[in-house]
Amino acid sequence: MKRIEKLLGLFLLATLTMSCQKKSEPRKVENFNGGWRFRLSDSEPTPDQKWRTVDLPHDWSIAGDFDPSNPSGVGGGALPGGVGWYKKSFVLGEEYRDRKVFVQFDGIYQMSRVWLNGELLGFRPNGYISFEYDLTPFLRFDAENEILVKVDNGQQPNSRWYSGSGIYRNVRLVTTGPVYVPQYGTYVVTPEVSVNQAEVVVTTTITNQSEGDQNIQLITSLVDVNGNEVGLSKSTLSVPQGVLAEERQQMVIETPRLWSLESPELYKAITTITSDGKVLDVYETLFGIRFFDFDPQEGFSLNGVSTKIKGVCLHHDLGALGAAFNKRAMERQLRIMQEMGVNAIRTSHNPPAPEVLQLCDEMGLLVMDEMFDMWAIGKTEHDYSQYWTDWHERDLRDFIRRDRNHPSIIVWSIGNEIMEQYNHTDSTGGLIARELAAMVRSLDSRPITTANNDTSPDNPLIRYGGLDLVGFNYHHEQYEDFPENFPNQVFIATETNSSLATRGHYDMPSDSVRIWPLAWDKKFESGNPENTVSAYDHVRTPWGSTQEDTWRIIKKNDFMSGMFIWTGFDYLGEPTPYEWPSRSSYFGLVDLAGFPKDSYYMYQSEWTDQPMLHVFPPWTMPSDRNDELVDVWAYYNEADEVELFLNGKSLGAKSKENDEFHVMWRVPYQPGELKAISRKDGNEVLTVIDQTAGEPARIELLADQRTIKANGTDLSFVTVKVLDEKGTLVPYADNLISFELEGPGKIVGVDNGNPVSHEPFQASYRKAFHGLCLVVVQSNESPGDIVLQASADGLEGVSINITTVR
Ligand code: GAL
Repeated sequence: MKRIEKLLGLFLLATLTMSCQKKSEPRKVENFNGGWRFRLSDSEPTPDQKWRTVDLPHDWSIAGDFDPSNPSGVGGGALPGGVGWYKKSFVLGEEYRDRKVFVQFDGIYQMSRVWLNGELLGFRPNGYISFEYDLTPFLRFDAENEILVKVDNGQQPNSRWYSGSGIYRNVRLVTTGPVYVPQYGTYVVTPEVSVNQAEVVVTTTITNQSEGDQNIQLITSLVDVNGNEVGLSKSTLSVPQGVLAEERQQMVIETPRLWSLESPELYKAITTITSDGKVLDVYETLFGIRFFDFDPQEGFSLNGVSTKIKGVCLHHDLGALGAAFNKRAMERQLRIMQEMGVNAIRTSHNPPAPEVLQLCDEMGLLVMDEMFDMWAIGKTEHDYSQYWTDWHERDLRDFIRRDRNHPSIIVWSIGNEIMEQYNHTDSTGGLIARELAAMVRSLDSRPITTANNDTSPDNPLIRYGGLDLVGFNYHHEQYEDFPENFPNQVFIATETNSSLATRGHYDMPSDSVRIWPLAWDKKFESGNPENTVSAYDHVRTPWGSTQEDTWRIIKKNDFMSGMFIWTGFDYLGEPTPYEWPSRSSYFGLVDLAGFPKDSYYMYQSEWTDQPMLHVFPPWTMPSDRNDELVDVWAYYNEADEVELFLNGKSLGAKSKENDEFHVMWRVPYQPGELKAISRKDGNEVLTVIDQTAGEPARIELLADQRTIKANGTDLSFVTVKVLDEKGTLVPYADNLISFELEGPGKIVGVDNGNPVSHEPFQASYRKAFHGLCLVVVQSNESPGDIVLQASADGLEGVSINITTVR
């Protein structure tokens, strides 16, 4: 037995040996996510303990059980935290001996300590910051190295939302020579941009950790998306040993392709360091060329085109996948947002995974990149405020340096609803705001804001901070007074709405607004059985507004640069207006599983010009409600009226008047067929038909991708629908669906968007919620056919194939 373990150990070691560093390769960036071992324990690891193998990114909390007594609290998602340990063994050959080797972590939640071969490399309390350690001094060659990481998310609450726990973002191993561009070592700006030409300035940092002084050539080549060189600059410099040198190179690109929302063109700066013809390092930086402006009267413009910022706030969790970052899952979220008409994202309230910004660069989304949810005064007992004094400068600088080459970023937010804003009599808030802004300005020139819910001109952050944009959270009733209260300042609605809904639940009548809870500091004691919230746009928080009310004001006023809706997607934690048994939010325009709620389509009708028509609720009332008067709403665009028919009889045509965003009919319920036709100039644009559903009879599976990459990370999101015999979705179906998967993949998550469900996210079953649930399928590294089967008692099962390809 012992012998087998030993053999297995050797085998493991062999497979963990990093691929050979070729002498010719000046820089190597390796994925370091595989083959980690993990243990959840408060105590220090000892030999002979059991560890389980995990691949990163990894979030241990998401696999836990919901329990209101978990110290994260219901606001934190009611999932467990604790202390986790990760270790990984790897072998580097002799050829690494005169190299520099770094490990880069994109994010560890939180309070991480990292050791290599028993030597402590460092501590980072902030759970969202990216950082690297230099492994070089402690490496062994042709022998086993062990990296050990302690993650301490035991002291809770430390967050107002679900944080996740662990090494939940990507990890890389980076190898360079002794003369190299250090992390975040390039900064690309485009100070002059016109249609004819763009000035591009690249500032490069070079460090010389070699044995002597170096005479080097620094070559920066700018290439377009097709790989054509469009700019070149060469400098010769001597870099003394141990010195960090900085070199500024200026180039001009003729007829640049501007980065825009419709056509997010990217360029690459390729930095090469040579000495005596030998390449010492090659470093690549993506950038974009665009210009933008925030004007006190005209609002925001991009490349000279006036553009309303139509944004959403997003938390970092990925629903059933928890905080464990997955690029494809994020890409899906962003695509669903773009289909709604969204053109901007706010990374509330922390630095995102770096790939989020890459995706925004590539997909043409603007970004408000946000750093802090608190400064020196905390919001939860164990939060980052306790590390503020020692860490805020380091973290803020690292954040700006990491992100400043992304063309998608148009504004830095240095804080959300910072507690210091309320203290009008002492200057602390203003001083901190100034201090942070000065740090940001020393690194980048983009506008800076804070997201304030104290919107008075006496808020010290606004009054003394000297920031570029005045950010309002909520208070839409004050927006129009802004020019008077804040003359010549720029307005941005950093956070709006906090409107509430459960997908698929409708309370009548729809034309009276419910304020849930009644006041922010009042316990919510009414509400619905099963903690539902009606999905007509008529339930809001006392600090928020309905979707229509805020947009109506922003739309009308050019000086308002735009808005960020709270939130695009539901997220784990903060189940306002309820408490336990709810455990995730009701704010999203899309539920936690990624299924749009009805208000999503209000924005789609306003923010896109793709003809659309959305009619709700579904024409199937539960048996105990089939004598009701039902309010039928329609959102539409590209048409001037909608006519509704019930069982062939017209209920009249309606048009949106003045500044309305929907039309409504009050209809005595009668099972059958509900049909709506939108028309423009009398011609039909779209027709939608909904039938009253019968009993659940069968399951339908719809994969968002039928072919995925066999890379161990790609995902297919499979929507599961419960249909009646005729194929109509049964909107009240809650059947328990079981899944089986065969082939080169696995089920990595299930969900149904119900904020009250306590079923595990990592399981092979899920109850439908309002007729729908979701299975997330992940490839492994072998190509082939995955067969996913769904079955349920009394329903006809079904299967679907997903092909994985190299
Ligand atoms: C805001 C806050 C968000 C979230 C939201 C809920 O005040 O910035 O993080 O808590 O309220 O309505």
